[in-house]
Amino acid sequence: MTENSQGARTERSRQLFDRARRIVPGGVNSPVRAFGSVGGTPRFIRSGKGSRITDVDGNSYLDLIDSWGPMILGHAHPAVIDAVQQAVGRGLSFGTPSEGEVLLAEEIVARIGPVEQVRLVSSGTEATMSAVRLARGFTHRAKIVKFAGCYHGHVDALLAAAGSGVATFALPDSAGVTAATTAEVIVLPYNDIDAVRVAFADHPGEIAAVITEAAAANMGVVPPAPGFNAALAQVCHDDGALLITDEVLTGFRVSRTGMYGLDGAQEGWAPDLMTFGKVIGGGLPVGAFGGRADVMALLSPLGPVYQAGTLSGNPIATAAGLATLQQLDDAVYEKLTATAGSIGELAAAALGAAGVPHRLQRAGTLFSVFFTDAEVTNFDLARTQHTAAFAAFFHAMLDAGIYLPPSAFEAWFVSAAIDDDDLQTIADALPAAANAAARALHHG
Ligand SMILES: Cc1ncc(COP(=O)(O)O)c(C=O)c1O
Repeated sequence: MTENSQGARTERSRQLFDRARRIVPGGVNSPVRAFGSVGGTPRFIRSGKGSRITDVDGNSYLDLIDSWGPMILGHAHPAVIDAVQQAVGRGLSFGTPSEGEVLLAEEIVARIGPVEQVRLVSSGTEATMSAVRLARGFTHRAKIVKFAGCYHGHVDALLAAAGSGVATFALPDSAGVTAATTAEVIVLPYNDIDAVRVAFADHPGEIAAVITEAAAANMGVVPPAPGFNAALAQVCHDDGALLITDEVLTGFRVSRTGMYGLDGAQEGWAPDLMTFGKVIGGGLPVGAFGGRADVMALLSPLGPVYQAGTLSGNPIATAAGLATLQQLDDAVYEKLTATAGSIGELAAAALGAAGVPHRLQRAGTLFSVFFTDAEVTNFDLARTQHTAAFAAFFHAMLDAGIYLPPSAFEAWFVSAAIDDDDLQTIADALPAAANAAARALHHG
């Protein structure tokens, strides 16, 4: 594959990638960034403003990764930068309580009904890891149910059948996770409530929690079937288990109140614990887990479940997160919904015109385009995709200045900074990219 058929320069990215590979495994600090499944050189990004990012060679791209979710307002939003600069001026970290933690926690609790108490951490992985430990501590049970294709960060116990990053590299699992760890984890097909009922019937009183992405988005976007999350809550509660909905990706992105606002709040059920990340840090490292006050009361220093973090609730990170959430009013979500709808439909139309099998799936403002024509309701179906066709599509879009997530198993992330000119840029780029996908399909 040529580096860039448009002739844009990529030497500096290539040089940095070569240097990085000598001293950093794979040249990256998080695997999907490496372009492993699409080939070629990842662009090293130097700056971002609004909907665009600029690489070290000076090429500008319309960004549809948005740091995998956090940059919902676009890059370098003035209100966020200002809040961060003010916080920086006051010092970087104290390891004592600080006001920003209280303000961010209050904002989360005010928006999300089931979250009576919340604790801040520094990543989504820490949030899910801590929520699972807390659920086990509360229930005095060991087993956890998770769904194939759902990713909850790189927590040992949750790395079984873990979706995008792992799927991209075609690893069914991770080496280094012991059998003893996964022995307590039951992996079931997503959207299959009967399988959940069977698991509870087989292990009555043994399951501490079911953890599920509130809408699966790490195998591409696979929304929960109508009533699936509600039924999960019911099945868990009937057995005395907890339901953990992981909103690290969906929280404050798919609506003002996350995915819960689109289902639980409407249908009258609630998870016991929820996890957050990405948007609540506005681009800096913040995660959170929260939920029922009686469950959260078990956390150290009140209770026996230990959990801590040197940089938890860091003042710069909480300032960025709070400033981001404060910008996210109903008007922004309306815009995000419209933008996501337009881009998804443009992509689907172009692929349709080129004769490429595809399927557009959404959950609120989240969407992805599967390179397969059947409805995708679980991980096995997601894996029927033509990944070579996606790779060709991806590179044609990159050549045209549009940076998509470099994997067929990822959601496309839109920011509120995308405007009509950007939509036109995408519309102009799509036909050639769809044709490239069609050619890859016929040759592959
Ligand atoms: C649903 C979900 N949970 C947890 C995580 C892990 O978050 P982090 O990468 O911040 O550790 C992710 C990351 O993509 C995620 O999408």
